[in-house]
Amino acid sequence: MAEERRPDDMTRITTRELADEFIEKQISDLRDQIGDKKVLLALSGGVDSSVVAAMLIKAVGDQLTCVHVNHGLLRKGEPEQVIEVFRDQMKANLIYVDATDRFLDKLAGVTDPEEKRKIIGGEFIEVFAEEARKLDGIEFLAQGTIWPDILESEKGIKAHHNAGGLPEDMKFDLVEPVKILFKDEVRVVGEALGLPSNMVYRQPFPGPGLGVRCPGAITRDRLEAVREADAILREEFAKNGLEGKVWQYFTVVPDFKSTGIRDGQRTFEWPVIIRAVNTTDAMTAEVEDIPFELMKHLVARITSEVKGVNRVLYDFTPKPSATIEYE
Ligand code: XMP
Repeated sequence: MAEERRPDDMTRITTRELADEFIEKQISDLRDQIGDKKVLLALSGGVDSSVVAAMLIKAVGDQLTCVHVNHGLLRKGEPEQVIEVFRDQMKANLIYVDATDRFLDKLAGVTDPEEKRKIIGGEFIEVFAEEARKLDGIEFLAQGTIWPDILESEKGIKAHHNAGGLPEDMKFDLVEPVKILFKDEVRVVGEALGLPSNMVYRQPFPGPGLGVRCPGAITRDRLEAVREADAILREEFAKNGLEGKVWQYFTVVPDFKSTGIRDGQRTFEWPVIIRAVNTTDAMTAEVEDIPFELMKHLVARITSEVKGVNRVLYDFTPKPSATIEYE
């Protein structure tokens, strides 16, 4: 039987051998639990759901159906990577839903951050439920719940059931194969399962995605600018040895324009703000000391490659007084 709780004396999974042992036991438990029934998983491409997907593919193969909802607020290349890794390489049943227009239409003109989050969360459940209804005979819902989620939900800090909020008539039994693991252990297990390291060692990315990095009302052009600038920042951090060293880094495109000059012509365009912070628990954070030469290179690339941008700013503010994200 699968453990409901993390045993007090459980050895921290830090090596390939310990990961393989864990995977073997989980696969056997998953087969016992699921039998010949069908399982559904919302696969975001984040570490936890990706590890759960890879584990279930090993355990029950095509009895698993994954649904990847692209809400239009993902980083550049993410939906493509989910399709490549899970559909093309691991041969999973993957339903890909491009719901970009649906989300962006609902978000049009909405400026309040909490309202934006509510719309994104609510719409996500709706799209996922619609896809689930099209499938026959699903009995289980898999989730990437991890041990800190359970501890926090017990303390009343957050509701851990990601799928909490599914309509009343949709009742599934839960399958949570990484629920006794800490995040660092999930990563070790992910590597042992053969997931790409840029997926396994991914920096934290909020559920509402780039939506909270376009402060105020989200527009398609500003969203495109934040996505392109973020891709350049990630590429340069990777090239310069900062990937995996800096805890979280991203760009923000605020909703104001300033004057600039390009090819002798006056421009009136957005700034891109770069944020790069280090922390252990995200409760407080320190700003990363980015080398000045790299900063100048980032400015040159972003202002020449990202449409609609004429300035780049660096946010020097720790948490507190600022939060990590802008909304
Ligand atoms: P803040 O901005 O509160 O962020 O300093 C702390 C950490 O939480 C992440 N974050 C979110 N994650 N949904 C998420 O899944 C959200 O709405 C959300 N808001 C902030 C943030 O990226 C940082 O790692």
